[in-house]
Amino acid sequence: MKILVLGSGAGGGFPQWNCNCALCAGQRQGQISAQARTQSSIAVSPDGERWVLLNASPDIGTQIRQHPQLHPRRGLRHTPIEAVVLMDAQIDHVTGLLGLREGPRINLYATPCVFEDLTTGLPLLNVLEHYCGTRWHMVPVGAEQQSAEFEIPGFEDLSFTAVAIPGKAPPYSPHRREQVVGDNIALLIEDRRDGQTLFYSPGLAEVGELELGWMRRADCLMVDGTFWREDEMQAAGLSAKSAAEMGHLPQTGQPGRPGMLDVLQTTLARRKVLIHINNSNPILDEGSAQRALLTASGVEVAYDGMEITL
Ligand code: MLT
Ligand code: MN
Ligand code: ZN
Repeated sequence: MKILVLGSGAGGGFPQWNCNCALCAGQRQGQISAQARTQSSIAVSPDGERWVLLNASPDIGTQIRQHPQLHPRRGLRHTPIEAVVLMDAQIDHVTGLLGLREGPRINLYATPCVFEDLTTGLPLLNVLEHYCGTRWHMVPVGAEQQSAEFEIPGFEDLSFTAVAIPGKAPPYSPHRREQVVGDNIALLIEDRRDGQTLFYSPGLAEVGELELGWMRRADCLMVDGTFWREDEMQAAGLSAKSAAEMGHLPQTGQPGRPGMLDVLQTTLARRKVLIHINNSNPILDEGSAQRALLTASGVEVAYDGMEITL
């Protein structure tokens, strides 16, 4: 299976348009060694011809332009993107659907509560009915149903499993205050031809035994890399919110709460990749001590244009 990282940044991207923090300003002025990043989304393909998009970033137009694999191949109008799977209903993961409105009806895979958010709090799907429209394929994760295997027609070589994970519904969601099963999912994609498996979870608030069980099946982990520290945004004066309040497990832990790096150390995946990196995260600076620590631990930082063949 082929994996293409279209965007590796968190909401706002890097540098963020209105941010003058040391990292954003340092990147703009060329004072640090750091690549710019668009908002997170990846594409997967069994053959390099037909692609499934995991999340649709507001930067989708730029992302498609940058990647010839996703350019039209034949006829007057065409796209190799045949389906979109959503992990949640967050702005940085869904508003790219609007950018696909000139194309054919979008085959959209989402849980019932993500579908609900996108037809109520952020009614993108209603709006899209005036353009290309969407065809909703329900990913049946909700209530008692914590995980579900599903198929995407045309992608029979790949088996998809959605897994409910701890996280946050977006501020405009009817269930913002009380998370329901299906607000946030991780996705396991197994290539039936060789058994190689990807675990994708750009937003992951907590890793318990259940999540760890799924993660241990993967040959490639691509997981929440938003924050280095729990109080990163507060310490930088950027926001009053902690990582936990935003639904993200930081790389470094605290007593009683292992961080993402501790979690990754307990897995045997061949590739361990952080994605959805917030512009406040020091790992963006390739010369930072934090980045050196990741490298020494065998953990990679996703970048726009990164390609992985599993
Ligand atoms: C998040 O995941 O917390 C976001 O990136 C926030 C946002 O998109 O504004
Ligand atoms: Mn986000
Ligand atoms: Zn910044």
